[in-house]
Amino acid sequence: MEVIIRPTAGDAANLAARLMARCLRDKPQIVFGLATGRTMARVYAILVEMHKAGGLDFSLASTFNLDEYVGLAPDDEQSYRHYMNMHLFDLVNIDLRNTYLPDGNAPDLNAECERYEWLIGERGGIDFQLLGIGRTGHIGFNEPLSAMFSRTRVKALTPETVEQNAALFGSPERVPRHAITMGVGTILDAKRCVLLATGPEKSDIVARAVEGPITSMVSASALQMHRRCTVIVDQDAASRLEHQEYYEWIFENEPEWEPYRYKK
Ligand code: GLP
Repeated sequence: MEVIIRPTAGDAANLAARLMARCLRDKPQIVFGLATGRTMARVYAILVEMHKAGGLDFSLASTFNLDEYVGLAPDDEQSYRHYMNMHLFDLVNIDLRNTYLPDGNAPDLNAECERYEWLIGERGGIDFQLLGIGRTGHIGFNEPLSAMFSRTRVKALTPETVEQNAALFGSPERVPRHAITMGVGTILDAKRCVLLATGPEKSDIVARAVEGPITSMVSASALQMHRRCTVIVDQDAASRLEHQEYYEWIFENEPEWEPYRYKK
């Protein structure tokens, strides 16, 4: 795992977006694993800008989202499908047929989970998995005690997550209690993982995920076992990390980050 600390949330999102753009240019048929949430909205806005101003080409790319609420139709304004269409898919030249999310409205949810796993495999696996982190330490909706080897399945959301996402639904009663989510094992199978976290409210959970023990109580800590995981944080989210100077040293000296150090 490597940790990159950027001054602001905007700078952190910018680095994540530029990294995605570079991987897309290197492999136009890339398979992205995508995340939702407030943090990612910034990343998608930058990618849209790169598409409009710089011709960033999504025409051959495919995407698999981490999760979807159970019981919401794709056209429901709170669904993650709606979020993705609004923030990215409708604004770039991606072929919508190559954009996948679990169907939270499927009549047989377990069969839908299996189908999703099969589809990811059929597309050759995920090349680049973008991740956020919830305050419970979840990646996707892998709430505490999710098995490290778990695959796509239905998970009950914790009260804390329901409360955290309530603002987007108007009130906690309207937040679905279940979601389909890729498993921790599904995520660890991605060739590359990039976790983006910004803001002071993420500082505690980021420190536990990055510098704490690997534990299923904090699903994001499983990323410590991934061969190629980059954690990008702003100064606020990094504030409780003990080894900030070390991470900054790595960023200054690692050849991969050379083009990203000074330029916007
Ligand atoms: C939801 C998503 C997660 C995301 C999290 C953080 O719970 N299922 O994938 O990481 O939100 O969201 P935010 O960026 O709004 O803090």
